[in-house]
Amino acid sequence: MTQKPPALGLATLAVHAGEHRDPSGALDAPIVMSSAFAFESADLAAGAFRGENEAYIYGRWANPTVEHLEQKLAALEQGGAAVATASGMAAISGALLSLLRAGDHLVAPRSMYGESARLLRERLPRLGIETTFVDDPSPASYEAAIRPTTRVLYAESPANPMLAVTDLAAIGALARSRGLVSVADNTFATPYCQNPLALGVDLVVHSMTKALGGHGDAIGGCVVGPVGLLDAVRDTVVKGFGGVLSPFNAWLVARGIATFALRQREACASASAIARWLASHPAVARVHYPGLASHPGHAIAARQMRAFGALVAFELEGGLDAARDVVDRVELVSHAVSLGDTRSLITHPASTTASTMPADDRRRAGIGDGLLRLSVGIEDADDLLRDLAHALPA
Ligand SMILES: Cc1ncc(COP(=O)(O)O)c(C=O)c1O
Repeated sequence: MTQKPPALGLATLAVHAGEHRDPSGALDAPIVMSSAFAFESADLAAGAFRGENEAYIYGRWANPTVEHLEQKLAALEQGGAAVATASGMAAISGALLSLLRAGDHLVAPRSMYGESARLLRERLPRLGIETTFVDDPSPASYEAAIRPTTRVLYAESPANPMLAVTDLAAIGALARSRGLVSVADNTFATPYCQNPLALGVDLVVHSMTKALGGHGDAIGGCVVGPVGLLDAVRDTVVKGFGGVLSPFNAWLVARGIATFALRQREACASASAIARWLASHPAVARVHYPGLASHPGHAIAARQMRAFGALVAFELEGGLDAARDVVDRVELVSHAVSLGDTRSLITHPASTTASTMPADDRRRAGIGDGLLRLSVGIEDADDLLRDLAHALPA
């Protein structure tokens, strides 16, 4: 169900979507730090609780600063509505818990963000919700894993940390044909590179901690999709479980989003140059970047992505020791988890973000001891290349 593209470009939407003039005349949206809102009269209070008039009541239910951000997110992801949450994990767990109940089943890729995998592998089964993990995230594998109790097809593309690509249009179409709901984590791609909703996916989830916020200073998440599904998500995640985003973090993320398209343009171009450079480096055994023709998902990525993202994974010939040496030797690139920051960040997934995966899952997901994941920031590409040249074995 391809949606009509928005009339304004992404960079324009990133700056202007959700804007409304504050009564003070302030150009920049003020931060409304209030947990409750006053009613003009007893009648208006009662009407607000009956849902008959639009009034802010309580900060866990709605807040003007958070709403401003939500309107930006809905515009960037071409969704009817967005719900901002306290973190990416609040968005993912809340979206799934609003869709699933005991006895339900979902299908998800084996290679995905470690804590999302843990949610499906360890936490949801305690509530009677089972997941089948597919090794190869192809539509045929998803289809083969569907059971009579399946309710959700969950995708992450490109996926953490190996940058595996899933055909989102095919997963969306498969879900629709079986009466299921498709959910895609678009954190790695960002709406700069792809819009899963426009490809036919039902719900998009994000860690806004990453490239949307973009400055490494705020934890946040969101769910974007059609109004009907989003009402249920808001009721579950925000009202019920209390995973609400603070107005201050909403303001930080909205400010970050204003420069998001410019940052992504630079970071994706540098990532592409770095991936090509790594591919010809003698100490590098393999490079995983959807923009390289050698990547198994390149053809799908070229179809569904406008740019190939700012993350590059690569495997060193020297395995664990060589990988540890690189993270110890980089100077400009920071050795830290997370991604999508203005700074470039490098991690060794096997000993950090993927270390909670069972060893067999890690092996089947292809996460070897020599694997490094680089999140390319907005520094000059030449400086990053010099730093990597210095850090990699000669
Ligand atoms: C792909 C992906 N999804 C979700 C998350 C979770 O986001 P948060 O840390 O904001 O809860 C992460 C965190 O690294 C991630 O990489």
